[in-house]
Amino acid sequence: MKQIVILISGRGSNMEALIAARDAGRLPVAIAAVISNRPDAAGLATAARAGIATRHLDHKAFASREDFDAALADCIDGYAPDLVVLAGFMRILSEGFVRHYEGRLMNIHPSLLPSFPGLHTHQRALDEGVRIHGCTVHFVTPTLDHGPVIIQAAVPVLDGDSEESLAARILVQEHRIYPQAVRWFAEDRLRLEDGRVRIAAELSDAAGLISPELR
Ligand code: GAR
Repeated sequence: MKQIVILISGRGSNMEALIAARDAGRLPVAIAAVISNRPDAAGLATAARAGIATRHLDHKAFASREDFDAALADCIDGYAPDLVVLAGFMRILSEGFVRHYEGRLMNIHPSLLPSFPGLHTHQRALDEGVRIHGCTVHFVTPTLDHGPVIIQAAVPVLDGDSEESLAARILVQEHRIYPQAVRWFAEDRLRLEDGRVRIAAELSDAAGLISPELR
């Protein structure tokens, strides 16, 4: 079974969705550890209650981004994960860190990338008057909130929406698509071809295409 490490900075609701999917038998992974750059991240207590190893590494204690990222990579690599899952990890990552985890570093972002990279995505979507907004799970590249898209979900922007109401509608979708993306990775179904993600058919689907006498 594949091992994952989850990185958080705060509430950890996406992490909780991953734990819930694992517990429900919908996500065949072992969660080796949850690591936060903020010692007071609420998600750390949630992970500990679920019996998962937790670590914190305060970025403020490091002289440079590169120093922090090197220590973070050491901490992560101690668990030898197959996949590193950024779940509300609010740090810009150095190029060296991203390259080290190329093809095994996933992020969720609260917009339909490439629209609205960065912060305050919901307010910016409201300010622009877009009719559709959403969330994206992607493999991470050195460019902020950029990289091959694995799955997206869209929601309507409704008259009278506030930043909070829009965020809440999208969070429901985040909690649906992140476990799905990690599950595809766990099942070895994601392939990167020419900078795009291809999702292989489920084995059960493929088996269904083969007539019984040939199986
Ligand atoms: C989520 O909405 C996630 O998409 C966003 O932070 C929130 C974390 O919530 N991530 C980013 O903005 C990354 N660029 P959570 O801690 O409850 O999962």
